[in-house]
Amino acid sequence: MWVFEDVEAMAAAIADCVAGELDQAVGRSGTASLVLAGGSTPESSYRQLASRPVDWSRVDVFWGDERCVPPDAPESNYRMALGALLAPARVPTERLHRIEGEVGPRLAAERYERLLRTRMAGDWPRFDVVTVGVGEDGHVASVFPGDAESAGGRWVVPVERDAPEISRVSLTLDALGAARRLLVLATGARKAQIVARALAGKEGALPVVRLAQRAPGLIWFLDRVAAGEAS
Ligand code: 6PG
Repeated sequence: MWVFEDVEAMAAAIADCVAGELDQAVGRSGTASLVLAGGSTPESSYRQLASRPVDWSRVDVFWGDERCVPPDAPESNYRMALGALLAPARVPTERLHRIEGEVGPRLAAERYERLLRTRMAGDWPRFDVVTVGVGEDGHVASVFPGDAESAGGRWVVPVERDAPEISRVSLTLDALGAARRLLVLATGARKAQIVARALAGKEGALPVVRLAQRAPGLIWFLDRVAAGEAS
């Protein structure tokens, strides 16, 4: 667990960590894979990552989840990443593997599962770097408390919701947890309680706890407030 004085210091450290992991992966195999998160927490880290010396021509960029909205909608996780990282870093289009949420949760999940399986061998996708945030209820990506524990070996699942809620598509905890390096990001007072519950590790029903049980490469990145060290 890494705790930082403030959000910007944490964002800089995350950018350094991700850039270093991607560089090592490219050195190992010639390419690297990065899974981006949605929500608001990662944005400052992605902005800092855009200025790090990464060879983006060798990095495949994926998403851990997406809302079922057009890619230019305000709720789109792709749109946030495009503005914070992908456009400023000039990541080649052919390296971007967007979840096509706009086609609906089931078809989008099927397509993404197929895409991942053409690019990743093995029982689970071994992404080099995965970044996730955590919700106050302990959800990660779009795996929410009460969702099925197992997805029957699938890597990607539809998350169907009735309006006005937005349906989503999400990688499963097994797919996320197989990462070589998994960064869990949390900042601010709103997250202090869920961070403490997650680190206690006693509530096995919480997706973030279930993810931690699957992910030996997991590192928490927190600011002091989310870590409960300051108010
Ligand atoms: C999403 C995210 C979701 C997010 C958490 C935390 O698509 O909404 O994948 O899992 O990471 O809800 O969101 P904040 O960073 O905005 O607090």
